[in-house]
Amino acid sequence: MAQPKDIALSTQPDFATRMSVSTSPSAAFHSPPSSFSSKLPQRGLTKQLKPFNSKDIKILLLENVNQSGRNILTGQGYQVEALKTSLPEDQLIEKIKDVQVIGIRSKTKLTEKVLREAKNLLVIGCFCIGTNQVDLEYAAKHGIAVFNSPFANSRSVAELVIGEIISLARQLGDRSNEMHQGTWNKVSAKCWEIRGKTLGIVGYGHIGSQLSVLAEAMGMTVIYYDVVTLMGLGTARQVPTLEALLTEADFVTLHVPELPETKNMISTAQLEKMKEGSYLINASRGTVVDIQALINAMRSGKIAGAALDVYPNEPSANGDYFNRQLNQWGEDLRSVKNIILTPHIGGSTEEAQRAIGVEVSDALVRYINQGVTLGSVNLPEVNLRSLTLDEPNYARVIYVHHNVPGVLRKVNEIFGNHNVDKQISDSRGDVAYLMADVSDVNLGDMKELFDALEALSSKIMVRVLY
Ligand SMILES: NC(=O)c1ccc[n+]([C@@H]2O[C@H](COP(=O)([O-])OP(=O)(O)OC[C@H]3O[C@@H](n4cnc5c(N)ncnc54)[C@H](O)[C@@H]3O)[C@@H](O)[C@H]2O)c1
Repeated sequence: MAQPKDIALSTQPDFATRMSVSTSPSAAFHSPPSSFSSKLPQRGLTKQLKPFNSKDIKILLLENVNQSGRNILTGQGYQVEALKTSLPEDQLIEKIKDVQVIGIRSKTKLTEKVLREAKNLLVIGCFCIGTNQVDLEYAAKHGIAVFNSPFANSRSVAELVIGEIISLARQLGDRSNEMHQGTWNKVSAKCWEIRGKTLGIVGYGHIGSQLSVLAEAMGMTVIYYDVVTLMGLGTARQVPTLEALLTEADFVTLHVPELPETKNMISTAQLEKMKEGSYLINASRGTVVDIQALINAMRSGKIAGAALDVYPNEPSANGDYFNRQLNQWGEDLRSVKNIILTPHIGGSTEEAQRAIGVEVSDALVRYINQGVTLGSVNLPEVNLRSLTLDEPNYARVIYVHHNVPGVLRKVNEIFGNHNVDKQISDSRGDVAYLMADVSDVNLGDMKELFDALEALSSKIMVRVLY
């Protein structure tokens, strides 16, 4: 097996690519950077760990995972098989038996039936935003970590919204449609510059905060409303209530998650609060806006324009599906003036795909080589300072176990004759994850530790890396 490279050390040739992918300027402020990687003060160079008892790492990548991700995984010396499509269930079951890692996008369903056959599987990489195609609970109960990339497309969404703000202010959609019909309609009435106008951002997270910076650079005044108190970027100002935002903003843009509290967050009452002739943009989730109420407000002239990228019901495939059968107001919505309708493309860019490839592959490498679960959607997030070259006779023991009383006592009895240099443990529901670095051990000691932990009734999975 080729020696695994440590990603903390192997980023130099790839630095430009990694830096050019979309990252949120607020990422550090919303989610502090992980303490993994060479950014931490190290006592020595990070050691490259390998499993004491396993064979080559085999990875199956389905659905044309971006080249950026494939490069990182092959660069580690793993055996990577990359296919352009998803697989029918029987073929998937046959292939998954043999691999330690599978990378998928949204079409591959990793159900309990499929995962039951995945006897060697350590980790699943969802090279996409959502993870509902995976049975997360079954995976967790069998010690299989799942990673995804929820924020790699934030910048793409923010840029789309900027485009829409200008397009709505200048009625570009209507002018373009008229020209496509052969109509020359040169008008300036109710067409505006965006400079000096107020943008109201609802939800100041990864996307909202990116947008804030871009909008301000174009001369807009930015206000935002969020359930959390957050420091504004630039001169952006947080307002205390949604109502305060709606009454002040010329453009209202929604960037909140889909939650019971955000369902129909913008309906008749909220549209009435908005300024006469203002604009509404929704690229968050389709349930956040009451679309019939929006149609009414646009017909009355209260709302001068809207852009929607998301809908309560969305087709599962491309085609002629955006009709009355899907959403009963479909035709009414299409008939309104100055409305931009896009098919959930906010995050759909080449850059976002590349960023997703990098983010998920990095997470997989950290998990395989170091046992670090930061960013996992189904296991507790656990990190431990990397072992260094100054620590040659250390082993990293990873024990995924049922979260039941008495486990740590038994584990520490097993560690009893060794020096545990550092140890961390956390749980999520029924599953707990323990990681410990043990010093002064040889291969025989590692086998003993492995066998003793394997024999515990609380065991879900044991890995020993050195
Ligand atoms: N159109 C697309 O292609 C596309 C792409 C990516 C994300 N999205 C969607 O965009 C939305 C925002 O994504 P993000 O990555 O910025 O999320 P995020 O989690 O980084 O930010 C969401 C923000 O909303 C705030 N919030 C939560 N509930 C709120 C409430 N009731 N009122 C006000 N603020 C509230 C949170 O505190 C947080 O700051 C999500 O719904 C996501 O699914 C859409």
